[in-house]
Amino acid sequence: MRILFIGDIVGSMGREQLQSYLPKLKQKYQPQLTIVNGENAAAGKGITEKIYKQFLDWGADILTMGNHTFDKKEIFDFIDDAKKMVRPANLPEGTPGKGIAYVNVNGNEVAIINLQGRTFLPPIDDPFRMADQLVEEASKRTNLIFVDFHAEATSEKLALAWYLDGRISALVGTHTHVQTTDNRILDRGTAYISDVGMTGPYDGIIGTDREAVIKKFLTQLPVRFETVASGKSQLSGVIIDIDVKTGQSTKINRLYFNDEQPFFN
Ligand SMILES: [Fe+2]
Ligand SMILES: [Fe+2]
Repeated sequence: MRILFIGDIVGSMGREQLQSYLPKLKQKYQPQLTIVNGENAAAGKGITEKIYKQFLDWGADILTMGNHTFDKKEIFDFIDDAKKMVRPANLPEGTPGKGIAYVNVNGNEVAIINLQGRTFLPPIDDPFRMADQLVEEASKRTNLIFVDFHAEATSEKLALAWYLDGRISALVGTHTHVQTTDNRILDRGTAYISDVGMTGPYDGIIGTDREAVIKKFLTQLPVRFETVASGKSQLSGVIIDIDVKTGQSTKINRLYFNDEQPFFN
């Protein structure tokens, strides 16, 4: 089974990238399952119901989220009905939405889990213990288990990946918005990358207006961050091949292009 995962879609430019490139990517790479991180889809912070539905229309099968899940107020109106969306599973009990979803792909069930790190991020529940619990639950139904671990620190991401090696098919990191080159298959068949990277503005600072971010670092005063809406763009993703018999991955390749290194169909 081939999974295409596309990293954090940031703002209107990220959405445009997804809409125009997803059909081409699907045609070229022929994934059976397409997963998209949508935590920054609405102006860099959160997601709306309209955008959620657009992503599904454009070809995403399921959306993962992160620390920005609840930034747009209207999320509370639809997240409990959004069957194709997972938010970090280790948020406090009673948080709207869910952290695990199952998708049927040509007769094979795939579990998709979203977790959030605690290093340089709010101190929520333990992602390791929550992973144990969810992987055990999912393993009763399928050996195809995909984790989007939304976290800042590469050490935390590597630690969770090695902790789960052999129990899950893949763990991909998101959140830093910068793609890492450490994609590999761990010893017991879990595909891994520290961060998939982002999709959207290329010339901002992780998607945000440069001037505002620089001002923040210079002054330490509150600054309103806006995502960059025009200029050069980029798209970041990975393609993972999984042996459906064993649930182990055989390959994880990075996918990255921008206006200076274009994608050739
Ligand atoms: Fe993000
Ligand atoms: Fe994030």
